[in-house]
Amino acid sequence: MTKIKFCDVVTMTMRILGIETSCDETAVAIYDETQGLLAHTLYSQIALHAKYGGVVPELASRDHVRKLLPLIKEVLHAANTQPHEITGVAYTAGPGLVGALLVGAATGRSLAWAWRVPAIGVHHMEGHLLAPMLENPAPTFPFLALLVSGGHTQLIEVQAIGRYRLLGESIDDAAGEAFDKVAKLLGLGYPGGPAIARVAQQGKSGRFTFSRPMTQRPGLDLSFSGLKTQVLTTWQAQTIQDEQTRADIALAFEEAVIDTLLIKAQRALQQTGLKTLVIAGGVGANQWLRTRLQQLANELNIQVFYPRPIFCTDNGAMIAYTGYVRLKAGFQEPLSFNVQPRWSMESLN
Ligand code: KG4
Ligand code: ZN
Repeated sequence: MTKIKFCDVVTMTMRILGIETSCDETAVAIYDETQGLLAHTLYSQIALHAKYGGVVPELASRDHVRKLLPLIKEVLHAANTQPHEITGVAYTAGPGLVGALLVGAATGRSLAWAWRVPAIGVHHMEGHLLAPMLENPAPTFPFLALLVSGGHTQLIEVQAIGRYRLLGESIDDAAGEAFDKVAKLLGLGYPGGPAIARVAQQGKSGRFTFSRPMTQRPGLDLSFSGLKTQVLTTWQAQTIQDEQTRADIALAFEEAVIDTLLIKAQRALQQTGLKTLVIAGGVGANQWLRTRLQQLANELNIQVFYPRPIFCTDNGAMIAYTGYVRLKAGFQEPLSFNVQPRWSMESLN
């Protein structure tokens, strides 16, 4: 096998292998500087965790160990790429489940060492934030980002790559977490977001109404845990817990979360004067949210960008792309590695 020296890397077109193992998806992709995304693949552990109603960290780590190398081989093949053509390796270094992160970090670092190329630990939420850059057209800086995932709900002013100002965030449950918990208490299984969205399509609007938390107060922080309790008490108060009632409650919950996100996003746009809104993270895959955001964009005469749904939820492409951006900008890391289960995005500035 041809070995690349570190010094060759800067003169070659960059081709980055991206590895994502922060939670319950093993995902791998290859991003090329001139050709864009060459290949991406993903193995979801949903079936593994479904019977527990949520992610079991130890099972997640073990499954990443099983799936990661075969997926890397598969993606190299799909991208028609030999290992010596890879010029850098990016892996998710946090935030996430520590054991799961360590699988990706150890594998990514080892491959980079064997291939004599640099490796870089990527912030998972920065990956989500930059995922819309994989699309055409891509947003241009500056923009307001609404990051809505299973672990985070944040409004961020993005001036440039690595220049992030947190404007507001959830003070308790993230939006995705609320979807997951509400789905569980309605007996809809895991993951909750897609399940709620599916059932809500049969729901009748107006039968139930839940509050839009923290929208009456100034500020850009959010809170979804009270909403979950409202759903629980409403559901338990029903003498007939039939499919229609379940659908009506699911719809009312979905409407409350989406309205709240829209009110806060609109407020953040007004405060910052920004004209571009970017949505990313798993909840961004929600079709009703996307429709409502497009309506808002038309009303406010702003532009809204979101990645295709498979790049809203966890994926390898966003990690390969973010790794490319950071390596291109000259970021370097020592051979030793560390993962950060909790990691503020502002610390990247
Ligand atoms: O970004 P992501 O894949 O993982 C994290 O970084 O957390 O987000 C996962 C979250 C889950 O809570 C899931 O229920 C939610 O995104 N989600 C959705 C939809 N698809 C996934 N929420 C609402 N509607 C959806 N269609
Ligand atoms: Zn994520």
